[in-house]
Amino acid sequence: MHASSLLVTSLLSASANAHVFIWGVFVNGVDQGLFKGVRTPAYNNGPGAGGYANSPVKDLDSIDLRCNVLGDIQAPDTIKVKPGDHLTLDWHHDWRNDTDDVIASSHHGPSLIYLTPDPPTENSFVKIWEEGLYESLPFPKPGKWSTTSNIAKNFGHMNMRIPVDLKAGFYLIRAEMIAFHEGEVSYKMNPRRGAQFYPNCVQIEVVGDGTVELPKGVSFPGAYSYDGPGVVYDVYCSTETKKTRTTPCTTTYPIPGPTVWSGAWAETTAVPLSPVTGGTTATPWSTWIVNSVVTSASYTDKKSITVVGSSTYKAGWSSTYQTPSPATKRW
Ligand SMILES: *[C@@H]1O[C@H](CO)[C@@H](O)[C@H](O)[C@H]1NC(C)=O
Repeated sequence: MHASSLLVTSLLSASANAHVFIWGVFVNGVDQGLFKGVRTPAYNNGPGAGGYANSPVKDLDSIDLRCNVLGDIQAPDTIKVKPGDHLTLDWHHDWRNDTDDVIASSHHGPSLIYLTPDPPTENSFVKIWEEGLYESLPFPKPGKWSTTSNIAKNFGHMNMRIPVDLKAGFYLIRAEMIAFHEGEVSYKMNPRRGAQFYPNCVQIEVVGDGTVELPKGVSFPGAYSYDGPGVVYDVYCSTETKKTRTTPCTTTYPIPGPTVWSGAWAETTAVPLSPVTGGTTATPWSTWIVNSVVTSASYTDKKSITVVGSSTYKAGWSSTYQTPSPATKRW
């Protein structure tokens, strides 16, 4: 199922290492444990000296836009929740505590959360929350953005609620941050730049006797396009003084994707959180996945920045729900 082929490419690898992902989930303020239910993307450091540079996701047509690199591979466990529960997704970068920087300070952009039955089908991702948090302060003061001014400043905490009366079953949360520090041009026009997408999926089981089914949503890939709203955006127009500029060149930001579902909690609140349980550090993914199954990867020899090669991974999304197996444990 995870067949792969090694291809040598001449692409130069993008090298930013600001790989934010979800390290844990609090349910009504109670930590469920390190990586519990989280389909951890394969990008927290690479193997050997060079490391892979297969993420963040920039190709909007890639299957990686769904749940990130290796997002089809299940976590061994699933988080049980009820309609109305408050969930706090705990995003981090290097480690899971309050001294972590969460996301690089240049990575301004919006945050978004979708919900889909597990497994996703055509048009099954429903947007339940979004925040651009663009605040147009008098130029030349910087604008304020969800990723850098809210999530990073709040120790990586992204709040959401399980929709009222949601029908019991297995779902995936697809939470996402988008970073625009190289987003003034599309990845399609210039593959060395482009907006950076950091999607991450969490397995949940909704219990109870709810009757509400999710409405029709969007597909990933498919929901975003290079010429659609909020995908190509010069964030520096609004967030940095440029000597050559005396006025901001942009004052609004349209968040990509559909509107938030009317059945969702568009407004969320931070709930008090328990201490984190379990570890605060991650085992590099290179120890739990072999090199040959990495998708869309290019990797370099650190000393020479020469690209050594890349490999192609064929994601194996099932069309029916699969009970997670402890065999998929990665940590
Ligand atoms: C956070 O975790 C990292 C990695 O284990 C550690 O180096 C750092 O000292 C920790 N910070 C605090 C305040 O515990």
